[in-house]
Amino acid sequence: MSAAARSWQAWLADGRARLARAGIDEAETKLRWVAAHLLGCGLLDVLRHLPESPAPAQADRFAAAVARLETDEPVQYVIGETDFMGLRIRCDSRALIPRPETEVLVACAEEFLRGRERPVVVDVCTGTGCIACALAKRVPEARVVATDLSAAALELARENARALGATVEFRPADLLAGAAAESADLVVSNPPYVATAEIARLDRTVRDFEPALALDGGPDGLQTISRLVAEAVHVLNSGGMLMMEIGDDQADAVAEMLCRTTPLQFMGLRSDCAGRARVALASRRARAASLGAKRRRPKARTSPSR
Ligand SMILES: C[S@@+](CC[C@H](N)C(=O)[O-])C[C@H]1O[C@@H](n2cnc3c(N)ncnc32)[C@H](O)[C@@H]1O
Repeated sequence: MSAAARSWQAWLADGRARLARAGIDEAETKLRWVAAHLLGCGLLDVLRHLPESPAPAQADRFAAAVARLETDEPVQYVIGETDFMGLRIRCDSRALIPRPETEVLVACAEEFLRGRERPVVVDVCTGTGCIACALAKRVPEARVVATDLSAAALELARENARALGATVEFRPADLLAGAAAESADLVVSNPPYVATAEIARLDRTVRDFEPALALDGGPDGLQTISRLVAEAVHVLNSGGMLMMEIGDDQADAVAEMLCRTTPLQFMGLRSDCAGRARVALASRRARAASLGAKRRRPKARTSPSR
């Protein structure tokens, strides 16, 4: 039978056999995901198309996708997109693939921003721009700024914002460098938080394909988080919030760090759907009145009575 006349069912069976030989996990799901992408349908709808034959161009693209999956490349890079907060986010090797646990962070941020008048939010370490774009779409009255050290990631984030019609100001920056003091109501971030030595032990699909800059949190995994906490203290307005995604083994260390940072008040942790604490929250305490304001105040109080 010619390749073009083979049904989707046959193409999928062939793909399964090739991925099994290559030792690839979750082969069935990944192949369905590719087929759904090429057919422009949902994962379940693929079943309906099984007896049909793909068009020659679809068959070629399916075969090329299987070849990439055989190397353990993430399926999201292979099809070039993923879903995040109901948005289609373009994905490629320029940035980390958005993860479901990051949706918990966006939900916390959205809850804080809602009802505020023109709040300013900075998404630090924006990657694909998934957090910034989701917040810009969900809270249109917010001014959303997003930073990343990687020029390539920022380029992808800009493409995502354009495709989604999300208004976000992107800036190349090392964390919050260049942000003015007391200029943000919310600093939100999914920073790199994997300990350097742990990276070698991650799945090949992450380790060999996602950018090292997006993963490496330094020797203890907490280096970027700790710098971000220190910088956020200056950039947040009094009463503003810092919200960070953290590793599933970092809750105690990050809670302790936030409690130690006296300009901040630790506001607790939020868990993902597996019950693991993945988001840490802290509020910027009110600043003491400035010296100038203290000096002026007695005069203002005494003058009317003289
Ligand atoms: C874990 S990824 C998060 C991407 C995206 N926000 C998400 O949730 O999917 C971390 C991102 O931080 C960026 N990054 C790493 N170090 C940085 C730094 N010092 N300043 C700014 N961005 C940094 C990386 O380029 C990467 O895009």
